[in-house]
Amino acid sequence: MASISNAFSLSLPCNRIANSSSDFNPITSALSGLDSGEFSPGRVAVSKPSGIGGRICANATPVMDQPVGEKSSGAPTIVEVDLGNRSYPIYIGSGLFDQPELLQKLVYSLRLVFRFSQRSSYLVLMGCSFDRHVHGKKVIVVTNTTIAPLYLDKVVEALTKGNTAVSVEYVILPDGEKFKDMDTLMKVFDKAIESRLDRRCTFVALGGGVIGDMCGFAAASFLRGVNFIQIPTTVMAQVDSSVGGKTGINHPLGKNLIGAFYQPQCVLIDTDTLDTLPDRELASGLAEVIKYGLIRDAEFFEWQEKNMEKLIARNPNALAYAIKRSCENKAEVVSFDEKESGLRATLNLGHTFGHAIETGFGYGQWLHGEAVAAGMVMAVDMSYRLGWIDSSIVKRVDDILLHTKLPTAPPETMTVEMFKSVMAVDKKVADGLLRLILLKGPLGNCVFTGEYDRKALDDTLSAFCKS
Ligand SMILES: NC(=O)c1ccc[n+]([C@@H]2O[C@H](COP(=O)([O-])OP(=O)(O)OC[C@H]3O[C@@H](n4cnc5c(N)ncnc54)[C@H](O)[C@@H]3O)[C@@H](O)[C@H]2O)c1
Ligand SMILES: [Zn+2]
Repeated sequence: MASISNAFSLSLPCNRIANSSSDFNPITSALSGLDSGEFSPGRVAVSKPSGIGGRICANATPVMDQPVGEKSSGAPTIVEVDLGNRSYPIYIGSGLFDQPELLQKLVYSLRLVFRFSQRSSYLVLMGCSFDRHVHGKKVIVVTNTTIAPLYLDKVVEALTKGNTAVSVEYVILPDGEKFKDMDTLMKVFDKAIESRLDRRCTFVALGGGVIGDMCGFAAASFLRGVNFIQIPTTVMAQVDSSVGGKTGINHPLGKNLIGAFYQPQCVLIDTDTLDTLPDRELASGLAEVIKYGLIRDAEFFEWQEKNMEKLIARNPNALAYAIKRSCENKAEVVSFDEKESGLRATLNLGHTFGHAIETGFGYGQWLHGEAVAAGMVMAVDMSYRLGWIDSSIVKRVDDILLHTKLPTAPPETMTVEMFKSVMAVDKKVADGLLRLILLKGPLGNCVFTGEYDRKALDDTLSAFCKS
């Protein structure tokens, strides 16, 4: 079996941050990419490297203390994405569209400037200002034909109630991944230019991951960057795509190939929107929730095992808790590695196999989360073949996915060759070496590595494909 050099362990304990700088810090290794040395799996305390940003976010709540009862509207839970002067809040809760003060919230910002004299250095406070999450007087809401009839009015009201100075334009795009393209993006720019939006305008994404990714990219590029707010309405978007600033569109030759890192001003998650989400879409989003437990948060995985029934039944408090905990995990990873120099890649557990399924089987046949679920089973199988995890983890992953009504194997039409040809052009291939996210050690630990016994990969592919 190959030794594990060029790998890094990625088991940052969620919500448990040790401040001791003497603790071994995998982040430094992660940020330095694959040249970092081996370190063994297992939970490690981390402190954020200085200079990248301040506090680790998230209002941690002990997992099992969380009540899972009826819908409770009121003050939102806030998870902070900590990115220095680009930090932003994620508001999570029921009835948030009825709380216009959240979008219209005044944000206080200080501008501090250091001035140096010959004799001594001193600090000068240059100014402070108040701004709202909604900047300027013009807002454009980007949504689609499915979501507009359900939520557009509510969102327009939340943007304008008590604030008549704001005028709201909207653009309703066709629904579907196949419209996540340049032609559809142009419709957003057409509307923005026709409406004479200026640099002080705000773009609001109202919808799932497709709308969020496209609107974010439009905001990043319109007039070289305007204010942007995410209002995600699918589980997938609420636990994953709306957080972290990855935006973009597809190219006919590949998914998400054109885009930008562009962080929103805030993310508003009204969990009531999930009431109208089809069951299959709900389960697809839960695949990403399960992923967080597997790669870095064993306690959360255990909570999911006990509460999956409630999640599928859309128990509002269970969903709110799963969304919050997922956002905390994603926010923490992103705050350490915003531009995916290493650590952020771990969020792609199962995605290399999953992407091969999406491409090989045809986009739109399986939802993203469904392909990721089958991909995670394959990554877990390979981890077990390498001797990196014990059989109990394999069983638990299978059980939870079956419980969630997600696939635990790729479509029967997938062949070893189909997997290999798509995996060969995966973004994680470096110098001809396919790097994978694999589990290693106790539950909640993973590695991102190209150093593994090739036979294990071949055996996994053979085990899951008929030919
Ligand atoms: N930026 C990132 O970091 C990131 C991460 C993960 C996924 N993504 C992207 O996200 C996209 C997938 O997102 P998705 O799963 O949300 O798909 P989606 O945006 O296509 O939404 C799924 C379907 O649900 C409908 N819908 C959305 N909200 C609804 C609601 N509340 N009620 C009823 N119907 C509703 C949509 O109109 C659509 O038909 C992909 O393009 C993927 O590349 C991006
Ligand atoms: Zn994903």
